[in-house]
Amino acid sequence: MNKRAIITSALPYANGEIHLGHVASTYLPADVTTRYLKQKGVEAYYICASDDFGTPILLQSEKLGKTPQEYVEHWNKRDLEDFTAFNINFDFFYKTSSPENISFVQDVFSKLYDAGHIYESEITQFYCKTDKKFLPDRYVKGSCPYCKAEDQYSDLCESCGKVPEEIDNPKCSICGQPPTKEKTKHYFFKLKNFSEPLYKWLDENQNLQKDVKKYVQNWIKSGLVDWDITRDITWGVEIPLDDANGKVFYGWFDNHLAYISTALKFLNDKGIDGKEFWNSADIYHFIGKDIVYHHYLFLPAMRIGINNEFKLPDFIPTRGHLTLESKKISKSRNWYIGLKEFLGYYPADYLRFYLISINPYSQDDLNFDWDEFATKINSELIGNIGNFVNRALGFTAKSFEGNIPPPSDYEQIDNDAKQKILSLSSELDELMSQNHLDRALKKILEFSAHFNQYFQHKEPWKKGPGTDTCVYLSVNAVRSIAISLSSFLPESSEKIWQQLGLSETPSKQPWETISELNISSGHTLGKSSPIFEKIESEDIKAHKNKLGTKNL
Ligand code: MF3
Ligand code: ZN
Repeated sequence: MNKRAIITSALPYANGEIHLGHVASTYLPADVTTRYLKQKGVEAYYICASDDFGTPILLQSEKLGKTPQEYVEHWNKRDLEDFTAFNINFDFFYKTSSPENISFVQDVFSKLYDAGHIYESEITQFYCKTDKKFLPDRYVKGSCPYCKAEDQYSDLCESCGKVPEEIDNPKCSICGQPPTKEKTKHYFFKLKNFSEPLYKWLDENQNLQKDVKKYVQNWIKSGLVDWDITRDITWGVEIPLDDANGKVFYGWFDNHLAYISTALKFLNDKGIDGKEFWNSADIYHFIGKDIVYHHYLFLPAMRIGINNEFKLPDFIPTRGHLTLESKKISKSRNWYIGLKEFLGYYPADYLRFYLISINPYSQDDLNFDWDEFATKINSELIGNIGNFVNRALGFTAKSFEGNIPPPSDYEQIDNDAKQKILSLSSELDELMSQNHLDRALKKILEFSAHFNQYFQHKEPWKKGPGTDTCVYLSVNAVRSIAISLSSFLPESSEKIWQQLGLSETPSKQPWETISELNISSGHTLGKSSPIFEKIESEDIKAHKNKLGTKNL
Protein backbone atom coordinates (compact mmCIF):
# COMPACT_ATOMS: atom_id res chain seq x y z
CA MET A 1 0.00 0.00 0.00
CA ASN A 2 1.23 3.48 -0.90
CA LYS A 3 2.14 5.28 2.31
CA ARG A 4 1.05 8.66 0.93
CA ALA A 5 -2.31 9.83 -0.35
CA ILE A 6 -4.04 13.01 -1.41
CA ILE A 7 -7.82 12.92 -1.36
CA THR A 8 -10.08 15.53 -2.89
CA SER A 9 -13.79 15.79 -3.45
CA ALA A 10 -15.58 17.84 -6.11
CA LEU A 11 -15.21 21.48 -5.14
CA PRO A 12 -18.54 22.99 -4.05
CA TYR A 13 -19.65 26.10 -5.95
CA ALA A 14 -19.57 29.10 -3.62
CA ASN A 15 -23.15 29.69 -4.61
CA GLY A 16 -25.57 28.32 -2.04
CA GLU A 17 -25.74 26.00 0.90
CA ILE A 18 -24.52 22.42 1.11
CA HIS A 19 -27.38 19.94 1.09
CA LEU A 20 -27.76 16.21 1.59
CA GLY A 21 -27.21 15.51 -2.11
CA HIS A 22 -23.71 17.00 -1.97
CA VAL A 23 -22.50 15.10 1.05
CA ALA A 24 -23.92 11.71 0.05
CA SER A 25 -22.03 11.24 -3.18
CA THR A 26 -18.72 12.96 -2.52
CA TYR A 27 -17.79 14.56 0.79
CA LEU A 28 -18.83 11.76 3.10
CA PRO A 29 -17.26 8.85 1.17
CA ALA A 30 -14.06 10.88 0.79
CA ASP A 31 -14.02 11.73 4.48
CA VAL A 32 -14.52 8.12 5.57
CA THR A 33 -11.82 6.98 3.17
CA THR A 34 -9.32 9.56 4.42
CA ARG A 35 -9.96 8.67 8.03
CA TYR A 36 -9.52 4.98 7.17
CA LEU A 37 -6.24 5.63 5.33
CA LYS A 38 -4.95 7.57 8.31
CA GLN A 39 -5.82 4.66 10.60
CA LYS A 40 -3.84 2.48 8.22
CA GLY A 41 -0.82 4.65 8.84
CA VAL A 42 -0.94 6.36 5.45
CA GLU A 43 0.16 9.98 5.37
CA ALA A 44 -3.16 11.09 3.89
CA TYR A 45 -4.44 14.62 3.34
CA TYR A 46 -7.98 15.59 2.46
CA ILE A 47 -7.90 18.76 0.38
CA CYS A 48 -10.86 20.85 -0.75
CA ALA A 49 -11.76 24.40 -1.80
CA SER A 50 -14.75 26.45 -2.77
CA ASP A 51 -15.31 26.77 -6.52
CA ASP A 52 -15.54 30.54 -6.79
CA PHE A 53 -15.59 31.53 -10.44
CA GLY A 54 -18.14 31.25 -13.20
CA THR A 55 -21.10 32.99 -14.75
CA PRO A 56 -23.80 31.79 -12.31
CA ILE A 57 -21.84 33.20 -9.36
CA LEU A 58 -21.20 36.55 -10.99
CA LEU A 59 -24.83 36.87 -12.00
CA GLN A 60 -26.08 35.96 -8.55
CA SER A 61 -23.75 38.41 -6.81
CA GLU A 62 -24.89 41.18 -9.17
CA LYS A 63 -28.51 40.39 -8.37
CA LEU A 64 -27.79 40.74 -4.67
CA GLY A 65 -25.84 43.94 -5.18
CA LYS A 66 -22.64 42.45 -3.80
CA THR A 67 -19.20 42.14 -5.29
CA PRO A 68 -18.43 38.59 -6.40
CA GLN A 69 -15.55 38.56 -3.89
CA GLU A 70 -17.89 39.33 -1.00
CA TYR A 71 -20.40 36.82 -2.27
CA VAL A 72 -17.99 33.87 -2.55
CA GLU A 73 -16.29 34.76 0.72
CA HIS A 74 -19.65 34.35 2.44
CA TRP A 75 -20.28 30.89 0.98
CA ASN A 76 -16.72 29.72 1.46
CA LYS A 77 -17.07 30.38 5.17
CA ARG A 78 -20.54 28.97 5.49
CA ASP A 79 -19.73 25.79 3.56
CA LEU A 80 -16.78 25.06 5.77
CA GLU A 81 -18.91 25.59 8.88
CA ASP A 82 -21.52 23.15 7.65
CA PHE A 83 -18.95 20.54 6.63
CA THR A 84 -17.25 20.86 9.99
CA ALA A 85 -20.53 20.34 11.83
CA PHE A 86 -20.93 17.13 9.85
CA ASN A 87 -17.41 16.07 10.87
CA ILE A 88 -16.07 16.27 7.35
CA ASN A 89 -12.48 16.63 8.33
CA PHE A 90 -10.60 18.50 5.62
CA ASP A 91 -6.91 18.92 6.24
CA PHE A 92 -7.22 22.11 4.24
CA PHE A 93 -10.17 23.98 2.74
CA TYR A 94 -9.21 26.85 0.47
CA LYS A 95 -10.67 28.56 -2.63
CA THR A 96 -10.21 28.57 -6.40
CA SER A 97 -9.92 32.37 -6.29
CA SER A 98 -6.77 32.16 -4.15
CA PRO A 99 -3.68 33.97 -5.44
CA GLU A 100 -1.90 30.60 -5.49
CA ASN A 101 -4.52 29.06 -7.74
CA ILE A 102 -4.70 32.07 -10.05
CA SER A 103 -1.00 32.02 -10.72
CA PHE A 104 -0.93 28.24 -11.03
CA VAL A 105 -3.74 28.31 -13.60
CA GLN A 106 -2.01 31.01 -15.63
CA ASP A 107 1.18 29.04 -15.53
CA VAL A 108 -0.53 25.86 -16.72
CA PHE A 109 -2.19 27.81 -19.51
CA SER A 110 1.12 29.25 -20.68
CA LYS A 111 2.66 25.79 -20.78
CA LEU A 112 -0.27 24.41 -22.76
CA TYR A 113 -0.11 27.41 -25.07
CA ASP A 114 3.62 27.00 -25.67
CA ALA A 115 3.17 23.30 -26.34
CA GLY A 116 0.61 24.08 -29.04
CA HIS A 117 -2.46 22.75 -27.27
CA ILE A 118 -4.35 26.05 -27.46
CA TYR A 119 -5.73 27.84 -30.51
CA GLU A 120 -7.70 31.01 -31.09
CA SER A 121 -10.94 31.20 -32.96
CA GLU A 122 -13.51 33.86 -33.56
CA ILE A 123 -17.00 32.97 -32.40
CA THR A 124 -20.35 34.75 -32.38
CA GLN A 125 -21.85 35.49 -28.97
CA PHE A 126 -24.94 37.17 -27.63
CA TYR A 127 -24.21 40.77 -26.67
CA CYS A 128 -26.29 43.33 -24.77
CA LYS A 129 -26.01 46.87 -26.12
CA THR A 130 -27.67 48.33 -23.01
CA ASP A 131 -25.36 46.63 -20.53
CA LYS A 132 -22.40 46.69 -22.93
CA LYS A 133 -21.57 43.11 -22.11
CA PHE A 134 -21.21 39.77 -23.77
CA LEU A 135 -23.80 37.38 -22.46
CA PRO A 136 -22.36 33.90 -21.97
CA ASP A 137 -24.22 30.95 -20.47
CA ARG A 138 -27.00 31.98 -18.16
CA TYR A 139 -26.73 35.67 -18.95
CA VAL A 140 -29.30 34.85 -21.59
CA LYS A 141 -32.80 33.64 -20.86
CA GLY A 142 -35.49 32.53 -23.25
CA SER A 143 -37.79 29.68 -24.08
CA CYS A 144 -36.59 26.13 -24.48
CA PRO A 145 -36.61 24.96 -28.11
CA TYR A 146 -37.45 21.42 -27.01
CA CYS A 147 -40.22 21.67 -24.41
CA LYS A 148 -41.15 25.34 -25.01
CA ALA A 149 -40.88 26.18 -21.30
CA GLU A 150 -40.43 29.93 -20.89
CA ASP A 151 -37.96 31.89 -18.81
CA GLN A 152 -35.16 29.31 -18.95
CA TYR A 153 -31.44 29.94 -18.78
CA SER A 154 -29.66 29.35 -22.06
CA ASP A 155 -27.29 26.80 -20.52
CA LEU A 156 -29.95 24.51 -19.07
CA CYS A 157 -33.70 24.08 -19.30
CA GLU A 158 -34.84 23.29 -15.78
CA SER A 159 -38.12 21.99 -17.07
CA CYS A 160 -36.92 19.23 -19.43
CA GLY A 161 -33.28 19.02 -18.31
CA LYS A 162 -31.89 19.54 -21.82
CA VAL A 163 -29.09 21.88 -22.80
CA PRO A 164 -30.44 23.89 -25.74
CA GLU A 165 -28.18 24.44 -28.74
CA GLU A 166 -29.65 27.90 -28.97
CA ILE A 167 -32.48 29.27 -26.91
CA ASP A 168 -35.67 30.75 -28.53
CA ASN A 169 -36.64 34.39 -27.90
CA PRO A 170 -33.35 35.28 -26.22
CA LYS A 171 -33.36 38.10 -23.66
CA CYS A 172 -30.58 39.63 -21.61
CA SER A 173 -31.07 38.30 -18.09
CA ILE A 174 -29.95 41.62 -16.59
CA CYS A 175 -32.11 44.13 -18.44
CA GLY A 176 -34.54 41.92 -20.32
CA GLN A 177 -33.76 43.43 -23.76
CA PRO A 178 -33.23 41.14 -26.74
CA PRO A 179 -29.48 40.80 -27.33
CA THR A 180 -27.57 41.27 -30.57
CA LYS A 181 -24.84 38.97 -31.81
CA GLU A 182 -21.23 40.05 -31.95
CA LYS A 183 -17.95 38.43 -32.84
CA THR A 184 -15.38 37.76 -30.17
CA LYS A 185 -12.07 35.93 -30.02
CA HIS A 186 -12.00 32.82 -27.87
CA TYR A 187 -9.32 30.31 -26.89
CA PHE A 188 -9.83 26.61 -27.37
CA PHE A 189 -8.13 23.66 -25.73
CA LYS A 190 -7.35 20.92 -28.25
CA LEU A 191 -8.92 18.05 -26.39
CA LYS A 192 -8.82 16.08 -29.64
CA ASN A 193 -5.01 15.96 -29.40
CA PHE A 194 -5.35 13.76 -26.37
CA SER A 195 -7.68 11.01 -27.59
CA GLU A 196 -4.94 8.42 -27.74
CA PRO A 197 -3.11 9.02 -24.45
CA LEU A 198 -6.46 9.32 -22.66
CA TYR A 199 -7.66 6.04 -24.11
CA LYS A 200 -4.44 4.36 -23.10
CA TRP A 201 -4.50 5.78 -19.60
CA LEU A 202 -8.04 4.51 -19.12
CA ASP A 203 -7.00 1.08 -20.37
CA GLU A 204 -4.03 0.86 -18.07
CA ASN A 205 -5.45 2.24 -14.85
CA GLN A 206 -6.90 -0.75 -13.02
CA ASN A 207 -8.31 1.30 -10.16
CA LEU A 208 -10.98 3.11 -12.14
CA GLN A 209 -14.53 1.77 -12.11
CA LYS A 210 -15.00 -0.46 -15.14
CA ASP A 211 -18.39 0.78 -16.24
CA VAL A 212 -17.43 4.45 -16.13
CA LYS A 213 -14.25 3.68 -18.01
CA LYS A 214 -16.23 1.95 -20.69
CA TYR A 215 -18.53 4.79 -21.49
CA VAL A 216 -15.75 7.34 -21.35
CA GLN A 217 -13.85 5.24 -23.87
CA ASN A 218 -16.94 5.22 -26.03
CA TRP A 219 -17.01 9.01 -25.95
CA ILE A 220 -13.40 9.02 -27.10
CA LYS A 221 -14.20 6.60 -29.91
CA SER A 222 -17.07 8.74 -31.13
CA GLY A 223 -14.74 11.76 -31.29
CA LEU A 224 -13.83 14.39 -28.74
CA VAL A 225 -14.60 18.07 -29.26
CA ASP A 226 -12.23 20.91 -28.47
CA TRP A 227 -13.13 23.06 -25.49
CA ASP A 228 -13.90 26.75 -25.50
CA ILE A 229 -12.06 27.88 -22.37
CA THR A 230 -12.84 31.62 -22.59
CA ARG A 231 -15.54 33.84 -21.11
CA ASP A 232 -16.00 37.54 -21.82
CA ILE A 233 -16.86 38.40 -18.22
CA THR A 234 -15.15 40.18 -15.35
CA TRP A 235 -15.08 37.38 -12.78
CA GLY A 236 -12.51 34.64 -13.34
CA VAL A 237 -8.82 33.99 -13.81
CA GLU A 238 -7.49 36.46 -16.36
CA ILE A 239 -6.04 34.97 -19.49
CA PRO A 240 -2.33 35.83 -19.41
CA LEU A 241 -1.95 37.09 -22.97
CA ASP A 242 -1.62 40.68 -24.09
CA ASP A 243 -4.44 40.48 -26.60
CA ALA A 244 -6.81 38.69 -24.23
CA ASN A 245 -7.71 41.76 -22.27
CA GLY A 246 -11.08 41.53 -20.51
CA LYS A 247 -11.26 37.79 -21.02
CA VAL A 248 -11.16 35.18 -18.30
CA PHE A 249 -11.04 31.41 -18.21
CA TYR A 250 -14.13 29.25 -18.18
CA GLY A 251 -14.63 27.94 -14.61
CA TRP A 252 -13.93 24.35 -15.59
CA PHE A 253 -10.50 25.34 -16.84
CA ASP A 254 -9.38 26.64 -13.48
CA ASN A 255 -11.38 24.78 -10.84
CA HIS A 256 -9.84 21.31 -10.95
CA LEU A 257 -6.37 22.86 -11.03
CA ALA A 258 -7.16 24.01 -7.49
CA TYR A 259 -6.86 20.36 -6.41
CA ILE A 260 -3.17 20.72 -7.16
CA SER A 261 -2.55 24.35 -6.22
CA THR A 262 -4.37 23.90 -2.90
CA ALA A 263 -2.47 20.72 -2.08
CA LEU A 264 0.81 22.44 -2.95
CA LYS A 265 0.06 25.39 -0.71
CA PHE A 266 -0.91 23.15 2.17
CA LEU A 267 2.09 20.85 1.83
CA ASN A 268 4.64 23.56 1.18
CA ASP A 269 3.38 25.52 4.19
CA LYS A 270 3.97 22.38 6.24
CA GLY A 271 7.53 22.24 5.02
CA ILE A 272 6.90 19.26 2.74
CA ASP A 273 7.97 19.35 -0.91
CA GLY A 274 4.46 19.51 -2.38
CA LYS A 275 5.28 18.48 -5.91
CA GLU A 276 7.37 15.54 -4.81
CA PHE A 277 4.61 14.45 -2.45
CA TRP A 278 1.91 14.74 -5.12
CA ASN A 279 3.89 12.64 -7.55
CA SER A 280 4.64 9.89 -5.09
CA ALA A 281 1.17 9.73 -3.48
CA ASP A 282 -1.99 7.90 -4.47
CA ILE A 283 -4.31 10.56 -5.86
CA TYR A 284 -8.05 10.22 -5.22
CA HIS A 285 -10.69 12.52 -6.72
CA PHE A 286 -14.16 11.74 -5.34
CA ILE A 287 -16.95 12.93 -7.64
CA GLY A 288 -20.62 12.55 -8.55
CA LYS A 289 -21.51 11.08 -11.91
CA ASP A 290 -22.57 14.43 -13.43
CA ILE A 291 -18.94 15.53 -13.73
CA VAL A 292 -17.42 12.39 -15.24
CA TYR A 293 -16.62 14.16 -18.51
CA HIS A 294 -14.55 16.81 -16.74
CA HIS A 295 -12.63 14.41 -14.52
CA TYR A 296 -11.99 11.54 -16.91
CA LEU A 297 -11.16 13.65 -19.98
CA PHE A 298 -10.60 17.34 -19.42
CA LEU A 299 -8.59 17.06 -16.19
CA PRO A 300 -6.25 14.25 -17.28
CA ALA A 301 -5.78 15.81 -20.73
CA MET A 302 -4.62 19.07 -19.17
CA ARG A 303 -2.20 17.21 -16.93
CA ILE A 304 -0.84 15.21 -19.85
CA GLY A 305 -0.60 18.48 -21.79
CA ILE A 306 1.93 19.84 -19.32
CA ASN A 307 4.03 16.68 -19.58
CA ASN A 308 2.63 14.93 -16.55
CA GLU A 309 4.34 17.37 -14.29
CA PHE A 310 1.65 16.37 -11.80
CA LYS A 311 0.57 12.77 -11.95
CA LEU A 312 -2.87 11.67 -13.09
CA PRO A 313 -5.43 10.39 -10.60
CA ASP A 314 -5.19 6.81 -9.37
CA PHE A 315 -8.78 6.66 -8.16
CA ILE A 316 -11.81 8.66 -9.30
CA PRO A 317 -14.52 7.17 -7.10
CA THR A 318 -17.72 8.09 -8.90
CA ARG A 319 -21.10 7.75 -7.28
CA GLY A 320 -24.71 8.33 -8.28
CA HIS A 321 -27.04 11.12 -7.24
CA LEU A 322 -29.19 11.29 -4.19
CA THR A 323 -32.92 11.61 -4.75
CA LEU A 324 -35.14 12.82 -1.95
CA GLU A 325 -38.25 10.77 -1.20
CA SER A 326 -37.73 9.34 -4.72
CA LYS A 327 -37.83 12.74 -6.41
CA LYS A 328 -34.96 14.60 -8.00
CA ILE A 329 -33.40 17.16 -5.66
CA SER A 330 -34.03 20.70 -6.87
CA LYS A 331 -33.05 23.85 -5.09
CA SER A 332 -35.19 26.07 -7.27
CA ARG A 333 -38.25 23.95 -6.47
CA ASN A 334 -37.30 23.79 -2.81
CA TRP A 335 -37.06 20.01 -2.92
CA TYR A 336 -33.92 19.58 -0.85
CA ILE A 337 -32.77 19.40 2.76
CA GLY A 338 -29.92 21.66 3.81
CA LEU A 339 -27.14 19.97 5.73
CA LYS A 340 -27.36 22.59 8.44
CA GLU A 341 -31.10 22.10 8.80
CA PHE A 342 -30.69 18.34 9.10
CA LEU A 343 -28.01 18.63 11.74
CA GLY A 344 -30.41 20.74 13.76
CA TYR A 345 -32.60 17.63 14.08
CA TYR A 346 -30.21 14.69 14.41
CA PRO A 347 -26.58 13.99 15.28
CA ALA A 348 -24.10 13.93 12.42
CA ASP A 349 -23.44 10.24 13.00
CA TYR A 350 -27.07 9.31 12.25
CA LEU A 351 -26.82 10.87 8.82
CA ARG A 352 -23.35 9.44 8.24
CA PHE A 353 -24.59 5.96 9.15
CA TYR A 354 -27.64 6.15 6.93
CA LEU A 355 -25.98 7.72 3.89
CA ILE A 356 -23.07 5.27 3.91
CA SER A 357 -25.36 2.28 4.33
CA ILE A 358 -27.43 3.15 1.24
CA ASN A 359 -24.46 4.21 -0.88
CA PRO A 360 -22.80 1.50 -2.98
CA TYR A 361 -19.60 2.00 -4.95
CA SER A 362 -21.42 2.56 -8.23
CA GLN A 363 -23.25 5.11 -10.30
CA ASP A 364 -26.67 3.93 -9.25
CA ASP A 365 -28.73 6.68 -7.74
CA LEU A 366 -29.54 6.43 -4.08
CA ASN A 367 -32.62 7.64 -2.31
CA PHE A 368 -33.10 9.46 0.95
CA ASP A 369 -36.31 8.28 2.57
CA TRP A 370 -37.34 9.65 5.96
CA ASP A 371 -39.03 6.41 7.06
CA GLU A 372 -36.14 4.25 5.99
CA PHE A 373 -33.78 6.61 7.77
CA ALA A 374 -35.71 6.15 11.03
CA THR A 375 -35.91 2.38 10.60
CA LYS A 376 -32.22 1.99 9.90
CA ILE A 377 -31.21 4.12 12.85
CA ASN A 378 -33.63 2.51 15.26
CA SER A 379 -33.20 -1.11 14.25
CA GLU A 380 -29.62 -1.30 12.99
CA LEU A 381 -27.60 1.42 14.65
CA ILE A 382 -29.46 1.38 17.94
CA GLY A 383 -31.13 -2.06 17.96
CA ASN A 384 -27.96 -3.85 16.96
CA ILE A 385 -24.79 -1.87 17.72
CA GLY A 386 -26.12 0.36 20.51
CA ASN A 387 -27.79 -2.59 22.12
CA PHE A 388 -24.73 -4.81 22.15
CA VAL A 389 -22.41 -2.08 23.43
CA ASN A 390 -24.80 -1.15 26.18
CA ARG A 391 -25.48 -4.74 27.15
CA ALA A 392 -21.85 -5.79 27.32
CA LEU A 393 -20.63 -2.70 29.17
CA GLY A 394 -23.73 -2.35 31.36
CA PHE A 395 -23.53 -5.97 32.49
CA THR A 396 -19.84 -5.71 33.30
CA ALA A 397 -20.49 -2.58 35.32
CA LYS A 398 -23.32 -4.17 37.26
CA SER A 399 -21.93 -7.61 37.89
CA PHE A 400 -18.19 -7.02 37.99
CA GLU A 401 -18.05 -3.40 39.14
CA GLY A 402 -16.63 -2.60 35.75
CA ASN A 403 -13.54 -4.78 36.26
CA ILE A 404 -12.69 -7.18 33.48
CA PRO A 405 -12.30 -10.73 34.79
CA PRO A 406 -9.69 -13.12 33.44
CA PRO A 407 -11.20 -15.51 30.89
CA SER A 408 -11.38 -19.14 31.94
CA ASP A 409 -12.77 -22.02 29.87
CA TYR A 410 -13.31 -21.63 26.15
CA GLU A 411 -16.20 -23.56 24.64
CA GLN A 412 -16.64 -23.87 20.89
CA ILE A 413 -18.92 -20.83 20.87
CA ASP A 414 -16.26 -18.77 22.65
CA ASN A 415 -13.61 -19.86 20.21
CA ASP A 416 -15.89 -18.87 17.33
CA ALA A 417 -16.47 -15.48 18.89
CA LYS A 418 -12.77 -14.95 19.40
CA GLN A 419 -12.13 -15.94 15.81
CA LYS A 420 -14.56 -13.21 14.68
CA ILE A 421 -12.42 -10.64 16.46
CA LEU A 422 -9.22 -12.04 15.01
CA SER A 423 -10.43 -11.85 11.43
CA LEU A 424 -12.36 -8.56 11.54
CA SER A 425 -9.52 -6.20 10.65
CA SER A 426 -8.49 -7.99 7.46
CA GLU A 427 -12.08 -8.58 6.34
CA LEU A 428 -12.89 -4.89 6.73
CA ASP A 429 -9.61 -3.86 5.19
CA GLU A 430 -10.36 -5.70 2.02
CA LEU A 431 -13.69 -3.90 1.59
CA MET A 432 -12.49 -0.45 2.63
CA SER A 433 -9.44 -0.52 0.40
CA GLN A 434 -11.72 -1.25 -2.55
CA ASN A 435 -14.07 1.62 -1.76
CA HIS A 436 -16.91 -0.65 -0.63
CA LEU A 437 -17.71 1.48 2.38
CA ASP A 438 -21.33 0.32 2.54
CA ARG A 439 -20.28 -3.32 2.67
CA ALA A 440 -17.68 -2.62 5.33
CA LEU A 441 -20.32 -0.95 7.48
CA LYS A 442 -22.56 -3.95 6.95
CA LYS A 443 -19.76 -6.24 8.06
CA ILE A 444 -19.47 -4.31 11.32
CA LEU A 445 -23.22 -4.76 11.81
CA GLU A 446 -22.88 -8.49 11.23
CA PHE A 447 -20.05 -8.63 13.72
CA SER A 448 -22.17 -6.86 16.30
CA ALA A 449 -25.18 -9.09 15.56
CA HIS A 450 -22.99 -12.14 16.07
CA PHE A 451 -21.94 -10.87 19.48
CA ASN A 452 -25.50 -10.01 20.42
CA GLN A 453 -26.42 -13.64 19.79
CA TYR A 454 -23.33 -14.89 21.55
CA PHE A 455 -24.17 -12.85 24.61
CA GLN A 456 -27.76 -14.03 24.53
CA HIS A 457 -26.70 -17.61 24.23
CA LYS A 458 -24.12 -17.47 27.01
CA GLU A 459 -26.63 -15.96 29.45
CA PRO A 460 -23.94 -14.41 31.64
CA TRP A 461 -26.60 -13.04 34.00
CA LYS A 462 -27.03 -16.61 35.26
CA LYS A 463 -23.43 -16.39 36.47
CA GLY A 464 -22.69 -19.93 35.33
CA PRO A 465 -19.25 -21.20 34.33
CA GLY A 466 -17.79 -19.31 31.40
CA THR A 467 -19.36 -16.01 32.42
CA ASP A 468 -15.92 -14.46 32.78
CA THR A 469 -14.91 -15.59 29.28
CA CYS A 470 -18.11 -14.13 27.87
CA VAL A 471 -17.49 -10.77 29.55
CA TYR A 472 -13.86 -10.69 28.50
CA LEU A 473 -14.60 -11.46 24.85
CA SER A 474 -17.64 -9.17 24.66
CA VAL A 475 -15.82 -6.16 26.04
CA ASN A 476 -12.99 -6.75 23.60
CA ALA A 477 -15.52 -7.01 20.78
CA VAL A 478 -16.89 -3.60 21.81
CA ARG A 479 -13.37 -2.25 21.49
CA SER A 480 -13.05 -3.73 17.98
CA ILE A 481 -16.35 -2.08 17.06
CA ALA A 482 -15.21 1.30 18.38
CA ILE A 483 -12.03 1.30 16.31
CA SER A 484 -13.65 0.03 13.14
CA LEU A 485 -16.50 2.53 13.41
CA SER A 486 -14.24 5.48 13.95
CA SER A 487 -14.00 6.53 10.29
CA PHE A 488 -17.76 6.15 9.84
CA LEU A 489 -19.10 7.51 13.12
CA PRO A 490 -16.30 9.50 14.74
CA GLU A 491 -18.35 10.94 17.61
CA SER A 492 -20.08 7.72 18.62
CA SER A 493 -16.90 5.75 18.39
CA GLU A 494 -15.27 8.26 20.72
CA LYS A 495 -18.13 7.85 23.22
CA ILE A 496 -17.82 4.08 23.19
CA TRP A 497 -14.09 4.47 23.72
CA GLN A 498 -14.64 6.60 26.81
CA GLN A 499 -17.11 4.12 28.22
CA LEU A 500 -14.51 1.43 27.71
CA GLY A 501 -12.25 3.48 29.98
CA LEU A 502 -9.48 3.60 27.37
CA SER A 503 -7.06 6.44 26.80
CA GLU A 504 -6.08 8.16 23.51
CA THR A 505 -8.76 8.00 20.84
CA PRO A 506 -10.05 5.15 18.69
CA SER A 507 -8.98 6.97 15.51
CA LYS A 508 -5.37 6.85 16.70
CA GLN A 509 -5.34 3.07 17.08
CA PRO A 510 -3.48 1.32 14.27
CA TRP A 511 -5.84 -0.57 12.01
CA GLU A 512 -4.55 -4.07 12.84
CA THR A 513 -5.38 -3.57 16.50
CA ILE A 514 -9.05 -3.99 15.60
CA SER A 515 -8.26 -7.69 15.80
CA GLU A 516 -6.29 -7.64 19.01
CA LEU A 517 -7.75 -8.49 22.40
CA ASN A 518 -6.08 -5.58 24.09
CA ILE A 519 -8.40 -5.18 27.04
CA SER A 520 -6.96 -7.47 29.68
CA SER A 521 -8.31 -8.71 32.96
CA GLY A 522 -8.01 -6.12 35.68
CA HIS A 523 -8.88 -3.23 33.35
CA THR A 524 -11.66 -0.99 34.66
CA LEU A 525 -14.35 0.39 32.40
CA GLY A 526 -15.60 3.97 32.38
CA LYS A 527 -19.17 4.89 33.15
CA SER A 528 -21.69 3.24 30.84
CA SER A 529 -24.83 4.86 29.44
CA PRO A 530 -26.83 4.54 26.19
CA ILE A 531 -24.87 5.93 23.24
CA PHE A 532 -27.85 6.66 21.00
CA GLU A 533 -31.34 8.02 21.31
CA LYS A 534 -34.24 6.54 19.38
CA ILE A 535 -35.92 8.43 16.55
CA GLU A 536 -39.61 9.13 17.21
CA SER A 537 -42.12 8.56 14.45
CA GLU A 538 -43.98 11.83 15.18
CA ASP A 539 -40.78 13.72 14.48
CA ILE A 540 -40.37 11.93 11.18
CA LYS A 541 -43.94 12.85 10.28
CA ALA A 542 -43.18 16.47 11.02
CA HIS A 543 -40.05 16.43 8.84
CA LYS A 544 -41.97 14.92 5.96
CA ASN A 545 -44.67 17.52 6.36
CA LYS A 546 -42.21 20.34 6.37
CA LEU A 547 -40.57 19.10 3.19
CA GLY A 548 -43.98 18.80 1.55
CA THR A 549 -45.07 22.34 2.42
CA LYS A 550 -41.72 23.85 1.49
CA ASN A 551 -42.25 22.37 -1.90
CA LEU A 552 -45.62 24.07 -2.56
N1 MF3 B 1 -18.15 22.98 -8.66
C1 MF3 B 1 -18.30 21.85 -9.55
C2 MF3 B 1 -19.68 21.25 -9.40
O1 MF3 B 1 -20.26 21.40 -8.36
C3 MF3 B 1 -17.30 20.78 -9.28
C4 MF3 B 1 -15.93 21.22 -9.49
S1 MF3 B 1 -14.87 19.93 -9.21
C5 MF3 B 1 -13.42 20.48 -9.84
O2 MF3 B 1 -20.15 20.61 -10.32
F1 MF3 B 1 -12.60 19.61 -9.82
F2 MF3 B 1 -13.53 20.71 -11.07
F3 MF3 B 1 -13.05 21.55 -9.24
ZN1 ZN C 1 -29.04 43.68 -20.95
